[in-house]
Amino acid sequence: MKITKAIIPAAGLGTRVLPASKACPKEMLPIVDKPAIQYIVEEAVKAGITDILIITNRGKGIIEDHFDHSIELENALRRSGKTEKLECIEATANIGNIYYIRQKETKGLGDAVLRARNFVGDEPFAVLYGDDVIVGDVPAIGELAEAYEAHGKSVVGIKEVTDEQVVKYCSLKVDALGDKTFSVSDMIEKPQLSQKFSNYAILGRCILTPDIFDILENTPLGAGGELQLTDAMAVIARNAGMIGVDFSGTRFDMGNKFGVIRANIEVGLKHPEVAEELRNYIKELAKEL
Ligand code: UTP
Repeated sequence: MKITKAIIPAAGLGTRVLPASKACPKEMLPIVDKPAIQYIVEEAVKAGITDILIITNRGKGIIEDHFDHSIELENALRRSGKTEKLECIEATANIGNIYYIRQKETKGLGDAVLRARNFVGDEPFAVLYGDDVIVGDVPAIGELAEAYEAHGKSVVGIKEVTDEQVVKYCSLKVDALGDKTFSVSDMIEKPQLSQKFSNYAILGRCILTPDIFDILENTPLGAGGELQLTDAMAVIARNAGMIGVDFSGTRFDMGNKFGVIRANIEVGLKHPEVAEELRNYIKELAKEL
């Protein structure tokens, strides 16, 4: 079955990037000239997803404004003949079918996903975490969707991470199926090092089957007193098994300060307008480091 629906949870508190995220959602922090969430929506659209539900909360209205028309701005650009800029912002407003729902209390990623139950209905769907930007030639969520079509099981996007990171993310029990594909039979959220299964962790993308909603309804609060999506996915991994795909793009964590800086440097070094200037600047700067 083809994946046509995606949800983007963007209702977190973003405490790790305060004070930037106090009045501006971390999902709206820019990478060069576009907010993080635009890269994520573009990835979904490129993978053939037609309907996207963004989970927001109080204070995240500028996400809706960003994907809407800005009539005054469009008129001003039209009057001054700035056609390229006009086309660019019109394209953002016409990017696809985007819907919004609020998570009224910040009770965890699992709770945010539960808000999407009516939108999703009875079909498999994609989840793209709102602060995880993945840049590459092919859309990461498309790679996961292909694995879903091939195996008929829920899929998680995975990468090998350091011990320092695995305790902050999660750890997966994996067996290799192919070069970049794994079977996943268990997982644990924010493990202690002695509890880890491997250094493979879920990084920002998954394809889930709708049975996740009943499981989430019956999942007790987990790490940090939040309803953890990983705890519900672990039930599926243990019962039906999941597939892990080591996706080919580069992932930037916009939920932490260093991730924001790294994203801007790496994407900037490939951006036609600023690449050369940035490269020269970094070379000069490096001489003093
Ligand atoms: P994080 O784990 O980074 O959550 O969520 P957070 O609360 O924003 O982070 P810190 O620890 O306070 O810095 C991963 C994704 O899930 C969303 C976030 O917006 C982010 O895109 N999320 C998290 C929700 O939508 N609702 C929640 O209750 C928690």
